[in-house]
Amino acid sequence: MRYARIAAVSALVLSMAACGSSEKTVDKPAGFVAGNSGALVGVTMPTRSSERWIGDGENVKKELEALGYKVDLQYAEDDIPTQVNQLDNQITKGVKLLIIASIDGTAITTQLENAKDNKIPVISYDRLIRNSPNVDYYATFDNFKVGVQQATSLLTGLKVLNADGSKGTAKGPFNVELFAGSPDDNNATFFFNGAMSVLKPYLDDGTIKVPSGQTGFKSIAILRWQPKTAQDRMENLLTSTYRSGLRVQGVLSPYDGLSIGILSALKSNGYGTAGQPYPVVTGQDAERASVKSIIADEQYSTIFKDYRDLAKTSAQMADAILKGGKPTTNNNKDYNNGVKVVPSMLLDTMIVNGTNYQKALLDSGFYTKTQLQ
Ligand code: GAL
Repeated sequence: MRYARIAAVSALVLSMAACGSSEKTVDKPAGFVAGNSGALVGVTMPTRSSERWIGDGENVKKELEALGYKVDLQYAEDDIPTQVNQLDNQITKGVKLLIIASIDGTAITTQLENAKDNKIPVISYDRLIRNSPNVDYYATFDNFKVGVQQATSLLTGLKVLNADGSKGTAKGPFNVELFAGSPDDNNATFFFNGAMSVLKPYLDDGTIKVPSGQTGFKSIAILRWQPKTAQDRMENLLTSTYRSGLRVQGVLSPYDGLSIGILSALKSNGYGTAGQPYPVVTGQDAERASVKSIIADEQYSTIFKDYRDLAKTSAQMADAILKGGKPTTNNNKDYNNGVKVVPSMLLDTMIVNGTNYQKALLDSGFYTKTQLQ
């Protein structure tokens, strides 16, 4: 049901984009100050340890500078107090707008109050900032759909589904283990719920089994999206549940960094050989290491979220706000941050695997051939 609704929203967005008119707009944030040409914008990103956030930060900076703004770009290396300090500093420096990809979506409430007192609008970037009324807009991808795509791709890899979504030849039962993202990141729940909306009927009818029995979000979540934590959990699963020769055939992984950790645990336990192939392992972000792994037939798939588009969208949002206009949004109901529904702009995403990476990632100019060698 939920997926159908989201698909309908996406179709609507596409048709609105095609005719270029009647896009949904919302009121400008309270406390808005006009006349901000060339203003300083504060951009905070969670970490440099993941390739995607480096790309996000660089692209947001580039897009804002192309619109004539000055940019203070900060990375917090997944440390909450560091991000808190960076926001305090940016407010002190006199930024006119903040674009924030938070580490813990609930940990910066005081900074946001301070921003509000200083009439600084806030755009939540990729991850929703929770439990604060002082978030004006949200620029992100369709996070529920990402989860749907991850689970769909898992089923395609197992041949339970065909690539066109029709019923495949395989009947199972398949042994699958599930991983989820960081519990302090609102996106992680969206990915999980999206994936479970697809997997549930297959779990119910026994096509898919989870031999560890760990299917609840809390038991499978990986704090701060740490690859090492995922690797350790996979090691533990292999030694506890799969000791007696049982094989794991599929792993739902919500992020490429985790997939790399999971694959290395599998490798050190004898997977990745002709007699014991890797299970179908999913991912997200089309990070270089994972695309290479897909090309090498290790990781099965990833979800491509073109951060060049997200960067452009958030810079355009910032520009509209700073000029006294109204940013375009396309979803004003699904992203409740615990205090309010934040008007959101959701971008589309795509399953990438060994059959289409060339078209999706090389032809689109996201990577060069050399970068994937
Ligand atoms: C999420 C993001 C994913 C992935 C993950 C780990 O918030 O939406 O694309 O990057 O963080 O960094």
